[in-house]
Amino acid sequence: MEKLNIISGIKQYRSEVDTNFHMPGHKGKDNILGEMSENLNFYDITETLGTDNLHYPTGFLKDAMTYISKVYGSKKSYMVVNGTSCGIISAIMACTNPGDKILVQRDCHKSVYNACILGDLKLFYLYPEFNKKYGLNFSISLDKLDQMLTDNQDIKMVVLTYPTFYGICFDVKKAVEIVHKHGKILMIDEAHGSHLHFCKELLPPSAESSGADIVTQSTHKTMPCLTQGSILHIFSDRVNVNNIDTMLRMLQTTSPSYILMASIENAVHWMDEHGEERLKRNIEVFKRRTLELRNLGINVLEDDFLISEGLYDFDATRAVISMSELGITGTELQDILRYKYKIQMEFADLQYTVGYVTATDEPEDIDRLFDAVKEIYIEESKSKEKREIIQIEAFPQLQHERKMRKAFYAENTLLNMDDAIGKTAAEFIIPYPPGIPLVCPGEIIVQDTIDYVKVMLENGINVNGVNKNNQVRVVKWKEDL
Ligand SMILES: Cc1ncc(COP(=O)(O)O)c(C=O)c1O
Repeated sequence: MEKLNIISGIKQYRSEVDTNFHMPGHKGKDNILGEMSENLNFYDITETLGTDNLHYPTGFLKDAMTYISKVYGSKKSYMVVNGTSCGIISAIMACTNPGDKILVQRDCHKSVYNACILGDLKLFYLYPEFNKKYGLNFSISLDKLDQMLTDNQDIKMVVLTYPTFYGICFDVKKAVEIVHKHGKILMIDEAHGSHLHFCKELLPPSAESSGADIVTQSTHKTMPCLTQGSILHIFSDRVNVNNIDTMLRMLQTTSPSYILMASIENAVHWMDEHGEERLKRNIEVFKRRTLELRNLGINVLEDDFLISEGLYDFDATRAVISMSELGITGTELQDILRYKYKIQMEFADLQYTVGYVTATDEPEDIDRLFDAVKEIYIEESKSKEKREIIQIEAFPQLQHERKMRKAFYAENTLLNMDDAIGKTAAEFIIPYPPGIPLVCPGEIIVQDTIDYVKVMLENGINVNGVNKNNQVRVVKWKEDL
């Protein structure tokens, strides 16, 4: 028999990694999936007599969603089996009509932009405030949010990311107040924050507690759930629930996995029972070790420190580590952790490597990471050969040519990156992960962006939308728009 490629690949990967700080949040630990782990075949059923229907639930799937809604305190909660990407697209398309205006945080996930293409929406951008000292998008300015909604009263909906991939949080309650003062719908993309609800004492407030109208969560990222498992919560009467039902029916598979749905419910149960105690324990270890490393001069982000630097709040389960002052990029640090220490992080950019600590980690896992980081830092500090310090620049603010959908469907052509400067992008250019577009269809490509893409490629960062010949896709005829 030919070898089973995927099974072999997974086994190979597992043999190379001892400790992981990446998704899914169950971290491959035993017993987290409950009795299902013992016999997956038994639990893999489909819609038939007595097994309910995700699209028109009346039985045990409905009961599971009612339970989830009770735990999170929502008006209605949906299990989403196609990831938060699908929850986001469904919610945006359910709340808008083609041609409507939408205000989005510019560093939002690509699924928000995909919804705008599919729904033919006109975009307004709220750029995050870049902190040059840390080479990091700190957060959005709520005064600017207020101003933009005052200046553009026909905006229908606002979409904000909370927390970001890096754990950055703004004052979510105040954001809700502002958006509701203007009578608009606020959706919070809380893909990275489904755990916040379970440790109110030590973590930033959850979006569910803020009064936001819609909250989307990747249960699989920060909770012990199988990959793709997500939840969409509705909290207010501003949202037309019937439209959400319809969109989810249109965009989700008609054959949802019962194993996946059971794992979403299991994850909520597990967190409700153990989340607070486990998160508190892990955050305590994580914080103690972070302070120890910070005392040695290592740049590990920490909540109290960031707040003293002007950030509103930070999710203390996010390991965001940089050795850029030693001339080591985030991707290089990620590689050293992986190939020398068998520790896999979630992702890396030019400056930082980022990992997730979840409730399922053990204190020893956190110690392994911090011991390794400390050893690398001490070793690299001795190096005579000091390399150039890496400087990260703010997101280039691009001129938005016309509607995104028109650019996406316009006739296009491939151009060498340098020749594409000044042209209108036909496709996204996205460093992946984290999946935040540097360039969106309809935006004019500028020199700064191309320079930035080149540095990323040189540093081994995956950039979707740039082919192996360093070409990007641009709109061919402007008249098309
Ligand atoms: C901020 C943000 N929103 C949404 C998503 C999409 O989530 P999912 O992978 O569950 O579709 C991601 C994925 O990385 C993300 O980072």
